Formats: sequence, C-alpha cells, structure tokens
Amino acid sequence: MPIAPFTRRALLNSALAFGGLAAFGVRPAVGERTTSVRLVAAEIRRKLLANQPRPSLLRLYNDTVLPVLRVRRGDPVEVTLENRFKDEHTTVHWHGLRIPNAMDGVPYITQPPVEPGERFTYRFEPPDAGTFFFHPHCHTVEQLGRGLAGVLIVEGDAPRPFDADLSLAYKDWCLNDDGTLGPFLTLRGAIHAGTFGSLKTVNGKPVTDMHRPTYEVPAGADVRLRVLNLDNTRLLGVGVRGATAWMIATDGMPLAPRELKNWYLGPAMRVDLAVRTPDKEGAVVDVVNQWASTPLPLARLKVVGPSLGRGTAEPPALAGPFLPEPVLADAQVVRMVFSTAPRPSEPPPELAGLPFADSLCLAPKTLWAINGQTWPQEGHAHPPAPLAVLKRGRSYVLDLENISKQSHPIHLHGHSFKVLSSSADPDLPVHWADTTLLAPGERRRVALVADNPGDWMFHCHIIEHQETGMMGIVRVA
Ligand code: C2O
Ligand code: CU
Repeated sequence: MPIAPFTRRALLNSALAFGGLAAFGVRPAVGERTTSVRLVAAEIRRKLLANQPRPSLLRLYNDTVLPVLRVRRGDPVEVTLENRFKDEHTTVHWHGLRIPNAMDGVPYITQPPVEPGERFTYRFEPPDAGTFFFHPHCHTVEQLGRGLAGVLIVEGDAPRPFDADLSLAYKDWCLNDDGTLGPFLTLRGAIHAGTFGSLKTVNGKPVTDMHRPTYEVPAGADVRLRVLNLDNTRLLGVGVRGATAWMIATDGMPLAPRELKNWYLGPAMRVDLAVRTPDKEGAVVDVVNQWASTPLPLARLKVVGPSLGRGTAEPPALAGPFLPEPVLADAQVVRMVFSTAPRPSEPPPELAGLPFADSLCLAPKTLWAINGQTWPQEGHAHPPAPLAVLKRGRSYVLDLENISKQSHPIHLHGHSFKVLSSSADPDLPVHWADTTLLAPGERRRVALVADNPGDWMFHCHIIEHQETGMMGIVRVA
C-alpha cells in the first residue's frame, strides 16, 4: 500500500508533536518529515491529589503524566530515550506498532537495557495510523505503576478532520494515605486479577463518583474519542451516555463504524469512538465504565457553542487498516493455552540472594503459564525457547484458550491480529487488535500474517500475571 506524502510544517512549527498539558522536548526537525523527540525518563515528586499530605514519587516521561506524542503515518520518527533513574535500567516499547524488531524496546531480547545515564534512539516509520501507547518492558509493574507511559497518536486515518479529537487515558494509582505508592505486586493480586489501585484517574485527573474530568466540545459535532486503558490491572467496559457513539477503531485499527453499546478494554487495549454531540449548548455526554454493576464515570463532555449540524448520519470510516489479510484457507493453527503454572514456585534458592545481573527483570514467583511453560525466573537475560516458530510471510490462526479462573488480555508484539471468533460472545465483531481479552474459560481464534521477522514477546498485559510467568516468545523467521 503506497504511503501518501504528508507535510509536517504545521506540527513542527508549533512544537505540537508533544501535546496535552505541556509541549516540550521537541528538537528542530532533522529532515522535513522527521519528528524528533527527546524522552527523559526520570523520578519526580508530585501530588496526584491536591489534598495529599506529601507528594508521591512518580516515574514519568518528560515530567508529564501520560504525555501525548503525535506523529504521522509513514513519516520517520526519532525518539531519544534518556534514562535519568538512579539505579534502574529501562527501555521504551511501542505497544501495537508493527515496527522492526530492533526498535521494539524489550531489554535483552531486542536491545541492551538502557542503563542510568545512558541514551538510546528509537527510529521507525509508523506503518499504521491510530491510537497507540508506549511504556517500559522490565520491572513494568513498578515503572508503569509509578506512571511511566505515554499516549502515541499516529495521524493520517481521518477522511475529514474531526471537529475535536480527545484522548482519555485511564490509569489507577496504588496511592496510600501518606502519599506513598504501592505495593505494585502482591501475591494475592498476582494470583487473582491483580492489585488494584485506590485512585482512579483519566489523563492523570482523579475520577470519583462526584467528580470526573470534564472537557468542552462543540455542539452537533463529530468528536473523536480515543479511550486507552493504561492501567496495570483494571478491566473497563466502555460506554457513552447522552449521545450516539460509533466504534471506529480497535487497538488503532479501523473497523466499519458500529454503534457502541459496550466495549471491553483490558489493560493496554484501546478503542476509538466517533461521538455525535447533541445540538443543544449545555448538554452533557458521559463516558462511563460499564464493567461495574452501577456504571462509573470516566469523563464528561460539555457541549458549548452553536451546533455544527453534523446531523444523524453515520460518521465516515477511517482509512485502513494497512495490514496484510491472512489467508485462512492456508493458515496453520497454533494452539496457545493460558493457565496457572504447573508448579508455582519461589525463586530457586541459588538465585534468591544473588546480586543477579538482571535482578530487575526476574520474576519473583512463577504463577502463570502459556502452554504449560512459564517465563523463567532467571529473567529477560536468559530467554526461554520460543513457544512457537512461525514462517515469515505465512498465515496463522492462533487458537487462544484461557483455562484459568482469571481474565487475561493477551498481547503479541510486532503484529496485529484479526479476532475471528469468541466462544463466549457470538456477537463479537470481527476486528483487528494487538491485545485481546480472554474471560475465564473463553476461547478465541485470531489470525495474522507472520510478516515481521524477529523474536516477539507474547504475554498477558495484566502486569502482575506477565511478571509472574505468563509470557513467552513467538519467533517469526
Ligand atoms: Cu504493552 Cu509487551 O507490552
Ligand atoms: Cu493475565
């Protein structure tokens, strides 16, 4: 598929490549179309709640809670990560981006860890437009738990500009009364659905029954809402009250507009919505989490100004997806079974007390498995044999089955897959995803063309499950 040329002047001139609350970190462009960004990972003390007695120790990119980076599909991106942590290495994984393996940001597997004081430059051309995010890939439970993540918006899929474009990034924080954060990993949480945070936020702003982040949007307008679940643990059921909303993309990949009733988002999953706002000034539209028995608010849109008169017609479909279509008739079926670990265990005694080369990436215990295999406690530095070896260019059906009592959002790096069917939900639309949520006992069939060579991580995105064994490698060769 040819990639249309884009001009980058508007973005570059206004240094808007990083949007949100603050624009920063954007250096002058190297070439005309290159977006060049400096990404500083550092600790910072900041209050998440105004009435906190003491600030919390956060880990953030560019001193910003969930910064938003905007780039254009097909244009070169150059991001220089600078690690300013005192004593932990880190990397940046570009979740959902089908980019070369060496840029995938998994320490030891795709690159050496970026040690404190070091830098690493990621270079890629995003092949897909849509809503993505980025985060570290080792000791994720704490690095992400303290806030280290950002939203990545790849532009270039809208047939006509939306009247407003807003991202809503959900995240909980394990905030204690004294302002400290944690614990990020508990045995009880890791065995069950994860350790839930006490403070719910959207775009870093607290969400309670009484209060929710509120955004002004034009009346009678098409508003693009990009909803991202960036929590380590929480499952969301996204709904919209007070307006018609259509799903237009899942995990960054377009689908034919479909009226939204409810869409489950496990950790790492995203959904793009087109919301047709009411014509009447002052009306409100609520985005809610329908997972709970009483829907919880996530955000409110407040309608302002005269109606733009978009009417009632369905919004136009987004351009794409720009993916190879798997050939199901030729596809080989690979079975993947998600379960508890065959032998849940403590770290082997010979490792327990050692100042290990990669103690950061060590699993504290193994509790979870894929095809009976657990990610080894020796950590990323000693990767296990691949769970599967896929032939480059061939179509595959992954037959995913969750035989455990917990839900698992399963993510494959370097590829997106087409979710074909679910044993639990016959009405599930066929859609593209990079992470798919398997309820207890559920079986899903997903298809892909294994077109991106390399060793790709394949894991549950409930971070405590990932870090206690539910992770493996899928090799494309
Ligand atoms: Cu967001 Cu290995 O993933
Ligand atoms: Cu899981």
